[in-house]
Amino acid sequence: MTVVMGIETSCDETGVGLVRDGVLLGQALASSMEEHVRFGGVVPEIAARAHVHAIVPTIRAALDDAHLELSDVGAIAVTTGPGLATALHVGVAAAKALAIAAGIPLYGVHHLAGHAAADTLDHGPLPERSIGLIVSGGHTSLLHVRDLTRTPIEHLSDTLDDAAGEAFDKVARILGLPYPGGPAIDRIAKEGDRTAIRFPRPLSGSGDPALGFSFSGLKTAVARYVEKTPDLDVADTAASFQEAVADVLTSKALRACRDQRVETLVVVGGVAANSRVRGLAQERCDAAGIELRVPRMSLCTDNGAMIAAIGDLLVRDGAKASSLDVTIHPTIELQTAQLF
Ligand code: KG4
Ligand code: ZN
Repeated sequence: MTVVMGIETSCDETGVGLVRDGVLLGQALASSMEEHVRFGGVVPEIAARAHVHAIVPTIRAALDDAHLELSDVGAIAVTTGPGLATALHVGVAAAKALAIAAGIPLYGVHHLAGHAAADTLDHGPLPERSIGLIVSGGHTSLLHVRDLTRTPIEHLSDTLDDAAGEAFDKVARILGLPYPGGPAIDRIAKEGDRTAIRFPRPLSGSGDPALGFSFSGLKTAVARYVEKTPDLDVADTAASFQEAVADVLTSKALRACRDQRVETLVVVGGVAANSRVRGLAQERCDAAGIELRVPRMSLCTDNGAMIAAIGDLLVRDGAKASSLDVTIHPTIELQTAQLF
């Protein structure tokens, strides 16, 4: 069986993971998050330079964590998109160098397919059909997933404007909380009352697209509320905003399961680390008799293990390697896990 190394550099995390036959053998992660805090968001050039510094030590650390040598690795998977162009280039260059030096196959993979595959490391193979809710800093999509590797992934809906994670980051900024906003809001919301303010549930009216997402109006509603509330309670506001996001995400995900007659919901991506999204999804899935799969928190946010996981699925499926002139796709939509 082949050990697959996964390399992830699409945003501000340099991640390397090693997976064999669906089992995570080891991983390492370096982050340039601290360097972006004072800018309130990821600065692509800073992220790319940090990847250049971190990539070789992170590869070493992942191998050490798995007690493996480079010569044990039989295939390399790397995120070729979507993501920040200059950041993606660093991982792709490293992956090509390793593939050429070691004479092993290279697989260019879609970052979001990696997010979905992350769950297989915790909960085993996906069922024949599942609904995937991908909620990250750049994407919010409901997907009808079959095998993840061969059959094209069907998009049931994508956000019309901001992604859920982006909304967390922007609202955190409005509330004077640090970047990244998701974890900051999650933390302070624990001290607040989620029923204190009834923020709008976007696209939840009877004439709206049942599975549609939109978060920029919700962000504006929070901004208005903050402007007109002199003695603002940040914890209550954060908790109420978080509740609106969790409510919309989970009710539409459950709706998709019902519509498609699918019995498994898989929630992945950075926002799947959110405690209320996890809690409410569990509550509603239990009530509807739907199996909920959410990976452990550290596999929700960007990491190398998830890229190794999708690479391992492709290798075991007998997928043909990508060519060594594979390049980056900064804005590519998720249709297939492998990118050529
Ligand atoms: O998947 P990810 O690590 O990177 C992208 O591919 O975008 O997601 C990052 C996003 C950020 O917007 C971050 O604020 C959000 O995920 N996030 C959270 C939490 N942890 C990370 N949002 C809400 N609650 C959290 N606990
Ligand atoms: Zn991601």
